[in-house]
Amino acid sequence: MIVLVTGGSGFLGRHLVQRLVDDGHHVRVLDVADTRSRDPRVEFVASSMTDESVLNAAVSGCEAVFHLASSVVPKTSNDNPILDARSNLIGTLQLMDASIDAGVSRFIFASSGGTVYGEPTVVKVKESHPTEPISSYGIVKLAVEKYLALYARLYGLNSIALRISNLYGEHQRHDTGLGVIASFCHGAVTDNPVKVWGDGSVSRDFIYVGDVVDAMVAALRYRGSHLVANIGSGETVSLSEILALIEELTGREVAKEYLPGRPFDVHRTCLDVTLADDALGWRPKTSLRDGISRVLQTVEQEERSS
Ligand SMILES: NC(=O)c1ccc[n+]([C@@H]2O[C@H](COP(=O)([O-])OP(=O)(O)OC[C@H]3O[C@@H](n4cnc5c(N)ncnc54)[C@H](O)[C@@H]3O)[C@@H](O)[C@H]2O)c1
Repeated sequence: MIVLVTGGSGFLGRHLVQRLVDDGHHVRVLDVADTRSRDPRVEFVASSMTDESVLNAAVSGCEAVFHLASSVVPKTSNDNPILDARSNLIGTLQLMDASIDAGVSRFIFASSGGTVYGEPTVVKVKESHPTEPISSYGIVKLAVEKYLALYARLYGLNSIALRISNLYGEHQRHDTGLGVIASFCHGAVTDNPVKVWGDGSVSRDFIYVGDVVDAMVAALRYRGSHLVANIGSGETVSLSEILALIEELTGREVAKEYLPGRPFDVHRTCLDVTLADDALGWRPKTSLRDGISRVLQTVEQEERSS
């Protein structure tokens, strides 16, 4: 199958592209960051999804689109909501229009289970939980989901929005303010103090990148109607517990610098992933201990070879 992956040069995109190529798909990447040298089997369109002139050619011939490109993280989105809406909402609508014109049969969107709900009112959040995002990033993700539902109704564009919790895994950047496990593991390996926003009690549902790739591949096989599904571990772990696990695995104490909590961070997230199991036959399989061990190993290798 010919598939387009927007944001294919990013953290999740890189892992997904590798799996799709290994599974025998012809993969085309649309990304502003040009990483074409990484794998000659991958076709590369080095451009922004906001450039309408390239979208038709980028989507042409594709049966499926994985839409992962995003130019913001929760923090930067609140600094400039207009830029966020222009790039990630309008850009996505342009991509959806091009997908309809090209006859794409499945559009899979990386939404965000950590931001669309806002501050949860229950322990485990189901997809039916109220959506009250506290960042522009979450508002835009939710708006895209609503447009996907509308386009399914108006034009029959089959789509799945995966509300991914907090991603972590090998090769995640440690300096963006988004990947807290990447940043803690990097600090632990390089013996640098790690920044903890708040008192360490903030807790998150961390999901290993390989499990999210499994969910995306399951979404490619899905043949039902428009779906919005949580993708997470179904468990919640505090930042202090993560640090304690990293210290146990490395056998070293990590220096911590405690900073005031950030206004765009919800205090606790934990996703109920029953729907993904029922609809996609997907369940998370990687324990936090195994996932963090793999990240630590990769950071150690990278540091040795740098
Ligand atoms: N990282 C997480 O914890 C997390 C959680 C939930 C959802 N998501 C979503 O999953 C997707 C992938 O996340 P990630 O962590 O791999 O992010 P990432 O920042 O590593 O990758 C995003 C990619 O999009 C590209 N990009 C940005 N703007 C673009 C544009 N206008 N046109 C084309 N390409 C553009 C970037 O160059 C980058 O390669 C994003 O949509 C993100 O919002 C991430």
